[in-house]
Amino acid sequence: MRRIVHGYFTPKSMEAWRPFVQKAVKELLDAAEEKGHMDVMRDLATPLPVLVIAQMMGVPEKDRPYVRQLAEKLLYIGRGEYDRMKPLTEGMRGMIDYVSPLVDERIVKPGDDFISVLASGEKAGIFTRHEVLVNTSLLLLAGHETTINLLCNGTLAFLRHPDQWALLKEDPAGRAKLATEECLRYDSPVKSIQRIASQDVEMRGKAMRKDERVRWFISSANRDPQKFANPDRFDITRWPNQHVAFGSGTHHCLGATLARVEGQEVFKALAERFPDLEVATADLEYQPSITFRSLRSLPVTWQ
Ligand code: HEM
Repeated sequence: MRRIVHGYFTPKSMEAWRPFVQKAVKELLDAAEEKGHMDVMRDLATPLPVLVIAQMMGVPEKDRPYVRQLAEKLLYIGRGEYDRMKPLTEGMRGMIDYVSPLVDERIVKPGDDFISVLASGEKAGIFTRHEVLVNTSLLLLAGHETTINLLCNGTLAFLRHPDQWALLKEDPAGRAKLATEECLRYDSPVKSIQRIASQDVEMRGKAMRKDERVRWFISSANRDPQKFANPDRFDITRWPNQHVAFGSGTHHCLGATLARVEGQEVFKALAERFPDLEVATADLEYQPSITFRSLRSLPVTWQ
């Protein structure tokens, strides 16, 4: 399955999305500038990844607000509310109903969008129709909740470390790449991921039995003192920076390059356009999730 979609996500083809990301970031920041204040979560981090993925799927402009509504319902997967299954189910059903006719269309008349790539997998007998449909939701979900957290946690890290913010402002275009890697490491968007043991295994003296659930903590690995000098220090010039924010091995994040492009463009634009950005509250709250490191909101102001 990965082989079908992998070609679409190569670093080279993702680089071609940079101008689109730049334009989307500019438009969102223009709107925020006009208002004079912004909640980074609501006004920038939440809409940006959906705009990008909707464009990748070839969703027509008029349907974007609807897809955004569905994407926001899918976010309930990682939240702690007791009634989260209702919006989550509505989001899943809504995506499947919305995407079904698009898949029918792309099977007959393929384009260069992501749904056409999945549809080609169905034609090749690798994906069933159901798998094509749920993989579109997976893409929306995997690229949304995670990127949101990179953008918010990264912005917060800068604003809490004025020396590093000053460093980025000296050369936003030149420093954005390494800075984004450090944001991914320092306050990782995904805290932990889960596996189910397929057989009995022993690891570092601990036995895991077949079918047991195992959770590994990305945020801990990314602060491992054996891997990183001064692991608790936010240092945007850190190099090498072999973090595991995108996982590792077979299921390494498919969208890593795209997420990096989005992070780089957002941090660069914020440093260029809002040099005196400040967090507007002392009370920041996180979603109660064991998987995602997700702020509820991030209000900011500027002069
Ligand atoms: C900062 C943003 C992101 C982070 C931190 C992140 C993190 C991760 C992690 C840790 C995994 C591994 C999950 C596992 O091993 O169980 C993963 C897998 C995945 N990611 Fe991302 N991701 C990000 C953005 C994106 C984007 C933008 C997309 C797509 C547009 C995407 C698509 C996927 C997919 C499809 C998988 C599943 C791959 C597989 O199971 O083979 N991700 N991501």
